Amino acid sequence: MLSDNITRRADGVLCFAGHSVPDLAEKYGTPLYLMDEERIRHNCRLYTKAFKQAFGENALPLYAGKAASFKQIIRVVMSEGMGLDAVSPGEIHTALSVGFPEEKIFFHGDGKTDEDIRYAISKNIGYFIVDNPEELLAVNREAASQKKKQKVLLRVTPGIDPHTYKAVNTGTVDVKFGVPMETGQAFAFTEEALRCSSLEFCGLHCHVGSEVFDETVFEDVIDVMTDFMAELSVKLGLKTRMLNVGGGYGVRYLDTDKHIDIPERIGSVASHLKERCKQLSLELPFFLMEPGRSIVADAGMTVYTVSSVKRIPGYKYYAIVDGGMADNPRYCLYGAPYTVLCADRESRFFAVFDLAGRCCESGDIVQPSVKLPVDISRGDHIAVCTTGAYNYSMASNYNRLGRPALVMLTDNDSYTAVRRETVEDVCSLDI
Ligand code: LLP
Repeated sequence: MLSDNITRRADGVLCFAGHSVPDLAEKYGTPLYLMDEERIRHNCRLYTKAFKQAFGENALPLYAGKAASFKQIIRVVMSEGMGLDAVSPGEIHTALSVGFPEEKIFFHGDGKTDEDIRYAISKNIGYFIVDNPEELLAVNREAASQKKKQKVLLRVTPGIDPHTYKAVNTGTVDVKFGVPMETGQAFAFTEEALRCSSLEFCGLHCHVGSEVFDETVFEDVIDVMTDFMAELSVKLGLKTRMLNVGGGYGVRYLDTDKHIDIPERIGSVASHLKERCKQLSLELPFFLMEPGRSIVADAGMTVYTVSSVKRIPGYKYYAIVDGGMADNPRYCLYGAPYTVLCADRESRFFAVFDLAGRCCESGDIVQPSVKLPVDISRGDHIAVCTTGAYNYSMASNYNRLGRPALVMLTDNDSYTAVRRETVEDVCSLDI
């Protein structure tokens, strides 16, 4: 199986985190997001333990809430000692509402409005990751008016290609995020930050991409970032106290995808950083990373019920389900691959189907060309694996569909963490 939390019982029934998937579908309805709480905790610990081992208390992994943000997941990552990368007032509010320590929240984003900035400063959010010079001045103004000194990290673009898909490449010089080093703008940005009397420069941030499998990309990032830290030190006498190298480790969506050994990778990145700091006579900065996908992706599964099966002889077979691009837009947006399984039984006879959604457009395909039992029919359950990251968080109400419920699985229990949206919810904001 793709991941060791996905198993089959002797009778062929698919289990996730030890629970029968058809039984969960029966109990909670479909479409249904499932999340394996123990797996989320396990994934957090891969980071917290490796960070502690490499850096002692001088490092913190932040959970990137954009991958999946709702109150219960925030409680889980908080109890595992993670900090938080939050990208909007909504994500900040979610975190604060469950008592997440504000000093461990890092506020991201390239388009923060004055209102966002006012809100975050008023809530005493620990750090702003400032994306650009206009935002820098806006944060400085707002901090001054609230008579506060706001801690900031500056987001710079290291000019590194992480070799991932275009929509999530954020490392190269021409992307919309951060200020490029190559053009000299990042240096000027830092000088500007030092002139802002209501800001406290704490360090630098970069993020080169997501779903990254290139094993040495973070070592390359460290090379570029430490060179820049050395330049700031020599030319401005400035100490970079914190270094945040973003998120991005890839996860396995298919059996053929590579497994990334996260503790091993972190160990190697840490040694590289220590070595570089020694070479460049820099003090070791407080080290941060922001994993999202690698914390939650393999903790998730989506369960659907087949509504109809359409066979067009000589052309194509479709299995049409009760969800689709509204709960998982990732194939439509990125051509993202997924492993798709029949949850009710194993079969010796397969056919190839496009797994299609219920939305009114031909492009609503969850996954093309998947192998399913040849006799699949209305009422059967389909599981799409590894949907924990960027599925719930990117879901929409397209076609006025309510978003699925999200159910957490523990060792011997299951509970609703986000309830299913009803038709009343869907029109609850209409006048
Ligand atoms: N830090 C920053 C600044 C980011 O922009 C991201 C992701 C992360 C951390 C977390 O990266 P991760 O560890 O999850 O790869 N919707 C796309 C992914 C967008 C990623 C956006 N930024 C998808 O579904 O593949």
